[in-house]
Amino acid sequence: MTSQLRPRRSCLAVPGSSQKFIDKARTLNADQVFLDLEDACAPLAKPGARKTIVQALNEGGWGDKIRVVRVNDWTTEWTYRDVTEVVEGAGANLDAIMLPKVQTADQIVALDLLLTQIEKTMGYEVGRIAIEAQIENAKGLLNVEAIATASPRVETIIFGPADFMASINMKSLVVGEQPPGYDVGDAYHHILMSILMAARAHGKQAIDGPYLQIRDVDGFRRVAARSAALGFDGKWVLHPGQIDAANEVFSPTQEDYDHAENILDAYAWFTSEKGGKRGAAMLGDEMIDEASRKMALVISAKGRAAGLQRKQIWTPPED
Ligand code: GLV
Ligand code: MG
Repeated sequence: MTSQLRPRRSCLAVPGSSQKFIDKARTLNADQVFLDLEDACAPLAKPGARKTIVQALNEGGWGDKIRVVRVNDWTTEWTYRDVTEVVEGAGANLDAIMLPKVQTADQIVALDLLLTQIEKTMGYEVGRIAIEAQIENAKGLLNVEAIATASPRVETIIFGPADFMASINMKSLVVGEQPPGYDVGDAYHHILMSILMAARAHGKQAIDGPYLQIRDVDGFRRVAARSAALGFDGKWVLHPGQIDAANEVFSPTQEDYDHAENILDAYAWFTSEKGGKRGAAMLGDEMIDEASRKMALVISAKGRAAGLQRKQIWTPPED
C-alpha cells in the first residue's frame, strides 16, 4: 500500500538558518531533504530562516529530492507564521510540511485547514502539499492511529527519539542507543511497532528518527538496520556520511531483490493454465504460495524504487 509513495530511505535534516548547509544539501543524494525551522534553528534566527528557506526552495536545484520544511509545533507561537510564510512564498516548490511533537489528531486537522486556505488563496492545487507527523511523546504515541488518519495529506509517521526519550523520562542521553541498565530487550520496540502498525494499517510511510553520534557510521548502520528489519521505510540523516548507509540499509540487497522478482515470475507461471494452476509450488527448495507473493511484492517494490536492476532471471521448467 505504501509502494506508490515516494522513497524516503534517507531524510536529511538541514538547519533552515544556514545557507551553507542548504547549499551543501542540494549536492547530496538523500531521498528527502527537510529544511528545519524547529529545534535546529534558534528562536532569534527563525524569522530570518523562513526567508532563507523560501528563497532556497524557489531557487530550485533539488533534483528529485522530496522537499520538506519542518515548522514549529502548535504549542509555540511560531507555527502559523512558519506555515503561512513558507507556503505562500514557496508552496509551488514544496512537497510536504513536517509537523513536530504531534499529540492529537486535531493538530493535524488544524494544519490541513491552514494549508487548504493558503492553497486556495494562492491558486495552488488543493491537497498537494503533504504532511509528515512526528511522534515525540507519550500522548502522540497513544493517539498515533488517529493522527495517521486525521487527513489524507498525512504521508509519513516519524519517530522522534530525542524528544521522546526526554518526554518519558528515559534514563539515557545517547539518542538511538539502548538506555543503560535495560538489558533484556529493545527499549524502543513498542514505540517503533506502534508507529509501524499505524502506518501500515493506513498506507503511510514509517520513518525512524536521528542517530546523533554522527561520526559513528557503523553505529548508525546497526541502529538503522533494526528499524529497517521491522519494516520501516527510512531514517533521518544528520550528516552526509550517514546518507549512503541509510540508502543501502533501507533498500533490499541485490540477492533479495532478484529472489523477490523470481518468486513473482515463478508464482505467476505456476498459477497459470500452462504452469498447472497450482496455488502452492516449489521454487528450488522453497515452497511458495500467495503469501510468498505478497512478501515478494514488498521487496520488489522497494528494489525497483531504489533503482535496482535484475541480475538473475527465473525461467519456467522445459515442457
Ligand atoms: C527529532 O526531532 C527528535 O526529537 O528525535
Ligand atoms: Mg524532536
